[in-house]
Amino acid sequence: MSPYFSYKNGLLYAEEVNLVDVATQAHTPCYVYSRHALIHNWQAFAEAFKTVPHRICYAVKANANLAILNLLAAQGAGFDIVSSGELERVLAAGGRADKIIFSGVAKQSAEILRAIEVGVGCFNVESVSELERIHTLAAREQKRVNIAIRINPNIDARTHPYIATGLSNNKFGIDRYDVVALYKKIQATMPYCQLTGIACHIGSQLTELGPFVETIECMLAVIAELKRAGITLKQIDMGGGLGVRYRDETPPAIAEYGRLLCEKLKESGLEIIIEPGRSLVADTGILLTRVEYLKQTRAKNFAIVDAGMNDLLRPALYEAWHPILPVVQHSDRPGVLYDVVGPVCESADFLGKNRLLALAEGDLIAIAGVGAYGACMSSNYNARPRAAEIMVDREKMYVIRERETVQDLFAWEKVLLC
Ligand code: LLP
Repeated sequence: MSPYFSYKNGLLYAEEVNLVDVATQAHTPCYVYSRHALIHNWQAFAEAFKTVPHRICYAVKANANLAILNLLAAQGAGFDIVSSGELERVLAAGGRADKIIFSGVAKQSAEILRAIEVGVGCFNVESVSELERIHTLAAREQKRVNIAIRINPNIDARTHPYIATGLSNNKFGIDRYDVVALYKKIQATMPYCQLTGIACHIGSQLTELGPFVETIECMLAVIAELKRAGITLKQIDMGGGLGVRYRDETPPAIAEYGRLLCEKLKESGLEIIIEPGRSLVADTGILLTRVEYLKQTRAKNFAIVDAGMNDLLRPALYEAWHPILPVVQHSDRPGVLYDVVGPVCESADFLGKNRLLALAEGDLIAIAGVGAYGACMSSNYNARPRAAEIMVDREKMYVIRERETVQDLFAWEKVLLC
């Protein structure tokens, strides 16, 4: 957890605001972010890459709230997007189109056209068909677009299989052994595609540098082959993927990761692009939730809270482990092992299992490390309005997303006129 969340006299704070006050004003469940934690992480990346030409393109999918995008845009961030929805969010938040990388395997024609219209910085292309479609549309619009090919290096990121993307049996990227021929074809036959770079992203939550090293070596080998074929590039995009510590993982520090990339890529003279998501925002947010009921069965103790898998899907989907902390520490109460579960009617609806906590009904707890892939993956399952989102900035708190109302949920639905 970021040091911007800390206990003072047994009470958990986000910066200078205590989370009991947040719950009183914003109700629960709600996401609470720390502005300074975000800026701190941004600066760690900026510092780590300062000696080389680089661009940090925040992966919007990790947390697409406008306030977060706006704060990062103000720091000079670029953005990695995967849909026109994310594109419009970045623009609405004040991000610059020419600093946007458009990734994703299924870009639709309307999305490509909109990206051409606003002038995104680069399309990271994932298939031959997509490339042909982009070229046709760019030709129709009479605009040259920047292209990088995302290679699939067939490298094991050694992470959860659902978030590994660099193996040949994943849908992502173009086989490393097919890309050189493709670059030649683009150069010879696609005048509206300007070849500017090469890209990759082998997976998320990488906790060792080894797979990054292997990927860099693979990318440099491709770049050398391209050079021999007379094709020179401007940028190398290493994707995102740097892991964070949720429990006992020991991922490399941002500085260490930066050092590796700078050392290995400096000589190439290429601009380094990275697309961090999780490592920029994960530790900047907690999910604040209240214990509704304590339920003891013959097999288990359940703490039933007012946040569920619709608010935070990661435990259900990946069996992800997030720290669960009491907002008020009670050293006088005995700890009990609880499964912390939500209100959703699924047995996958848990936020943590076998957690030693000293709880009473009505207590507040904080689920930590949820700034990334938390709110953005939430849903309305069981007709549950999505939670409010709050940003704390020293002693002030701002609502950066209002809690949905139940009426919002069916506002677009219609009944048959019969
Ligand atoms: N670039 C591309 C092309 C990506 O597909 C991703 C993440 C990133 C960058 C950012 O990766 P990061 O730095 O966050 O590892 N929902 C999952 C994570 C899915 C990641 C998908 N792609 C989770 O909750 O763990």
